[in-house]
Amino acid sequence: MATLTQEAYTNSKGTPEEPMIDVRNLVKRFAVGEGEVTVLKNISFQVNRGEFLSIVGPSGSGKSTLINMFTGIDRPSEGEIEVGGTKIDEMNEGQLARWRGQNLGLVFQFFQLLPALSLVDNVILPMDFANKFERKERRERAIELLNTVGLAEHADKLPSMVSGGQQQRAAIARALANDPPLIVGDEPTGNLDSASSERMVELFFQLVEEGKTLIMVTHDQEIARRTPRMIEIADGEIVRDEDIRRITL
Ligand SMILES: Nc1ncnc2c1ncn2[C@@H]1O[C@H](COP(=O)(O)OP(=O)(O)O)[C@@H](O)[C@H]1O
Ligand SMILES: [Mg+2]
Repeated sequence: MATLTQEAYTNSKGTPEEPMIDVRNLVKRFAVGEGEVTVLKNISFQVNRGEFLSIVGPSGSGKSTLINMFTGIDRPSEGEIEVGGTKIDEMNEGQLARWRGQNLGLVFQFFQLLPALSLVDNVILPMDFANKFERKERRERAIELLNTVGLAEHADKLPSMVSGGQQQRAAIARALANDPPLIVGDEPTGNLDSASSERMVELFFQLVEEGKTLIMVTHDQEIARRTPRMIEIADGEIVRDEDIRRITL
């Protein structure tokens, strides 16, 4: 269990619980030539379970770098990161990979489905990696997830045979494969037309209603304005943290 040193969060039953994400004094530097560049400058923030947060900011401001920190894709130079009560900055690569497979669903701008595998096999893959569900249940579960995102009839097609919007929905089904509590998207609508973006955002809202925590980097102000909370990053710092629910309460 995490020690709560800031405020005690409460869940829907009013019981205090640790935040989904707790980032403290995060600094990230990269070596560049002879010197180094500081891309994240002492960032601290918390995200509660069940929040839907968008992260906005200019290109190059550090959004992807920040996401890479709390998804364990890259490591901080300084600071502490707890996700779901686990100190991910203290895990080794093997532990991180296992943790990610069980606890995190990632959705990227370029979908990143494996091109040689059918949609259903792409969704089965994370279950095989995590060895989470009975082997014989995995295909059925994958089809169910594809059904949830409206793709059941395309289950046996290769990614190249379906549209970008459909590929992204398959990627969401894959992200849900191991039923992770946290879904993170890095510009997931960046390559979608507006109708496909809309469908994806609706899916995200549905997941939040089911109790997932959603964090999404987006360039789309329109989408960002619809999420209950928005963090703006500029030049490696949080310059705005707008929680609509807090404002209207
Ligand atoms: N591995 C790296 N080495 C050096 N600089 C990097 C590296 N990754 C990102 N950067 C730099 O960090 C800054 C923020 O990048 P990024 O987080 O990708 O921004 P955003 O996602 O907001 O567009 C950029 O100036 C980028 O060039
Ligand atoms: Mg980026």
